[in-house]
Amino acid sequence: MEAFAPLYSDHLHTLKQRADRLLVQQQLDGMVIDAGAPLPVFLDDMEYPFKANPHFKHWVPLFNHPHCFVVVRPGRKPQLLFYRPVDFWHTVPPVPQAQWVDEFELVVFEKLDQLPDLLPSGAGYAYIGAHPERAAQLNLTLVNPKGLLDALHFGRSIKSDYEVACIREANRIAVRGHEAAKQAFLSGASEFEIQQAYLSASGQGENEMPYGNIVALNEHCAVLHYTTWSRDVPTDPRSFLIDAGANCNGYAADITRTYARDPGSRFAELIVAMDQYQHRIIEAIKPGVRYTDLHSQMHSNVAQMLNEFGLARGSAEALIEQGVTKAFFPHGLGHPIGLQVHDVAGFMQDEQGTQLAPPAGITLRCTRVMEPGMVVTIEPGLYVIDTLLNDLSASAKEMLCQDEIDRLRPFGGIRIEDNVLVLSDGIENLTRCHGLD
Ligand code: GLY
Ligand code: MN
Ligand code: MN
Repeated sequence: MEAFAPLYSDHLHTLKQRADRLLVQQQLDGMVIDAGAPLPVFLDDMEYPFKANPHFKHWVPLFNHPHCFVVVRPGRKPQLLFYRPVDFWHTVPPVPQAQWVDEFELVVFEKLDQLPDLLPSGAGYAYIGAHPERAAQLNLTLVNPKGLLDALHFGRSIKSDYEVACIREANRIAVRGHEAAKQAFLSGASEFEIQQAYLSASGQGENEMPYGNIVALNEHCAVLHYTTWSRDVPTDPRSFLIDAGANCNGYAADITRTYARDPGSRFAELIVAMDQYQHRIIEAIKPGVRYTDLHSQMHSNVAQMLNEFGLARGSAEALIEQGVTKAFFPHGLGHPIGLQVHDVAGFMQDEQGTQLAPPAGITLRCTRVMEPGMVVTIEPGLYVIDTLLNDLSASAKEMLCQDEIDRLRPFGGIRIEDNVLVLSDGIENLTRCHGLD
């Protein structure tokens, strides 16, 4: 964290200025941001892994600290209420000593029943968090007010230099895992063993991952959210798709690569083609470009790939219009990324929360016009998903070339995903800058 300290100070200054403006605008005395409480397992004496409120992580680099609070009031130094119970059963977190703590008025407390005395209350304070029942107990009646939340979410779209540094570092950590996972695949490991190799090389545990890693061999590569990690060692490993990230100070990386066991295979050629198209899409990103247009461009590229590789025949217009490209590429081109893997405000057009949905029939998490400071993923894919192909109309099915589809099916599919920062004059690829092909 020390390396991030000068950047963090500017980041916090920006957050504070924005929050003060919004609170005054909305005639509020302040906001109380709850890190959250771990969810208990039904009828058991344990809890699910804790995931902090992203608004809390926006203010402080603490992502594994339940029951802590940040209190923001216009014109005042923000407060950090740090929960440090007396507990011999569990590890008690140390009081943070790093430089960033100086930016806060630090209040350390031992018992949750102290909270009503430590926190402000009443209708003038917005509670931002996941526990309305806790807000009620604290006499905080204004829970996640939409106007304030929309504006805070809109603000999160443009990353500060500190946030970009965190996402870049999360990518660096993830790239170490990806390199080890590729070697494990080439040495014939099972999905489960590859997952272990990934975690070990990235130095992060399964619960630290920003999402469940997708580690898929052969046909499993076509299951978009495959998270089974089979222990079976495949007799004929042909293809490998890994979608795995990492966490830095609560910020996510989200990276996908696909590999062919046989570098001379048609599947390997398909990967090279997809990689080239992904590059071209990324090269087209600059301020002023609408994300929806990048997604549409990728559908034209998929139409071209289907023709090039003999998977379907038809003009790009016909293949798109008849839903053939969508059957092969059914997910969106990507999404904003940051404190959440699928970060907020992908459809939001202004601070007032105006939403722009994707055009009818288009699956997409982002309709924004690109601006400097945005970070998005670019993750085109192409898969053989029989349920989608079977659902096509008779005229669309006529465009399919079944023999080539049959040849591709045992490989599952391809996805290639990078995290991209929009600059005033282009982009920085936060994934490839660490040397991952
Ligand atoms: N790993 C989830 C996604 O790529 O969106
Ligand atoms: Mn992903
Ligand atoms: Mn993604």
